[in-house]
Amino acid sequence: MTAAVAENVSEQSDEMKSHGASAVSFSGIRKSFGSNQVLCGVSFSCASHSATALIGANGSGKSTLLRCSLRLIEPDAGSIHVFGKSVRELSAGELRKVRSQVGFVFQKHNLVSRLSALTNVIHGAIGQGYSFRAWYQSIAPSELRERAFACLERVGLSDFALKPVQTLSGGQSQRVAIARAVFQKPKLILADEPAASLDPESGQQVMELLRELTQSEGIGLIFSTHHIDHALEFADRVVALKSGTIDFESAPDKLDATELRKFYMPSGSPL
Ligand SMILES: Nc1ncnc2c1ncn2[C@@H]1O[C@H](COP(=O)(O)OP(=O)(O)OP(=O)(O)O)[C@@H](O)[C@H]1O
Ligand SMILES: [Mg+2]
Repeated sequence: MTAAVAENVSEQSDEMKSHGASAVSFSGIRKSFGSNQVLCGVSFSCASHSATALIGANGSGKSTLLRCSLRLIEPDAGSIHVFGKSVRELSAGELRKVRSQVGFVFQKHNLVSRLSALTNVIHGAIGQGYSFRAWYQSIAPSELRERAFACLERVGLSDFALKPVQTLSGGQSQRVAIARAVFQKPKLILADEPAASLDPESGQQVMELLRELTQSEGIGLIFSTHHIDHALEFADRVVALKSGTIDFESAPDKLDATELRKFYMPSGSPL
């Protein structure tokens, strides 16, 4: 082994020691849009096999932070490690590979409405080496179709597999988006307000589904939410963003809903 290679291996193992147990870790993340300083040095980690709730008022930077984690938005400063890899230092190809191991679930589900639920789930294979054969379920290899169908079954939607997404309810569509994320066999799911556009019952079901999937598959989960009850019920850690920094980070059993509501309400306003 040359000295340069030995040094590289030693650096990698040091990196794995400090970040290897985390699905994601953020250190000193800064991001401004023009003069709007959104993130002013945010640091926290989400362990593999655990769920972190990201809370904070509108505009506090939750979506920006989630998008920075895979460089969908480029941060101005700081480091981000996903599965121990420093994502800001990855080549385009390495970054694509890391992205393919992460399922993103958005508030607006980002599905192609006119296409079937099954095709939308199979789209999770785009970027995993399948190219055009993953565009439509009818031309997809049977292995992909069967696996996608199993994912829809997993989220209780096997009867809707061939229905266009535009004919499904909001809750059903969000479950298709989760099936698509699961189809990617992710090691991490980033869910940006996954329950925000849903009625309370569908929202609860989607959160239960995410928890069940992450626990049974050992997937790390970060979800942003304005639902205090969801943060307390479904997360192992609650991280609160305020004025561009972390206001507090805590296990949910150390918090109560009244305290958390104060976080959203300026002092003096009615709870
Ligand atoms: N692409 C962009 N260009 C300019 N400003 C942006 C962009 N994306 C976000 N912002 C600004 O960054 C700030 C943080 O936005 P962000 O969407 O991350 O907040 P959030 O905590 O997710 O809010 P919400 O709870 O409403 O979803 C806001 O002031 C927003 O206007
Ligand atoms: Mg947001």
